[in-house]
Amino acid sequence: MITHIGAEPGQIADRVLLPGDPLRAQWIAETYLDDPVCYSTVRNMLGYTGEFQGTRVSVQGTGMGQPSLSIYAHELMAEYGVQTLVRVGSCGALRPEVKVRDLVVALSTSTDSGMNRHRFEGIDYSPTADFDLLSVLVEECRRTDADVHVGQVASWDVFYSDRPDLRDRLTEYGVLAIEMEAAALYTLAAKHGRRAAAVCTVSDSLVTGDETSAQERERTFSSMIEATLAAIIRA
Ligand code: HPA
Repeated sequence: MITHIGAEPGQIADRVLLPGDPLRAQWIAETYLDDPVCYSTVRNMLGYTGEFQGTRVSVQGTGMGQPSLSIYAHELMAEYGVQTLVRVGSCGALRPEVKVRDLVVALSTSTDSGMNRHRFEGIDYSPTADFDLLSVLVEECRRTDADVHVGQVASWDVFYSDRPDLRDRLTEYGVLAIEMEAAALYTLAAKHGRRAAAVCTVSDSLVTGDETSAQERERTFSSMIEATLAAIIRA
């Protein structure tokens, strides 16, 4: 039963980029892929397949947060046989050395989400990236002119949180940045025996209050997408 992605079997490549925003999926496909074809418009959560330097690649919007991403990631792996998934998103810096416009590559994640509490009950499972995929992604990110940080991120369910103290505790333990999806992606990829990684541009700093302008966000986002496409066809 496929209920959220309207593609026919075979329409989705085995390597997929996952932006949260469906219009970013459209922009990535139309800017970087040869012969992009839109395979799904269900709920306007756009998905495209095309070629990047001769290799088939898809781009699928996931929406925001772990419940939404989980629906798309599950269906991509369980119904369409996707093997390699890279989230391309944005994050907020939690530590002073992480500046706006930098790239954060998520090695592992901590989360406040109920999703893995439901799945694992009392066990603290550690959602972790695929090492080989992450290594290639880090290599390609380091070719850009952005500063690259590799480490743990927080995948938070609550954007407008009433509990900044919990975030601060993670910061004390070295967590670099906060976003809302990577933990679910890494957990589901592990469950399905597939490979996943995530890279985020730093859109704002919870340390300094700095924010990127729309123009800066676009420039760093482009570098991140170019690095991710280069990595996903190599990995
Ligand atoms: N919280 C969660 N996700 C984010 C943030 C944030 O502050 N900034 C950018 N993505």
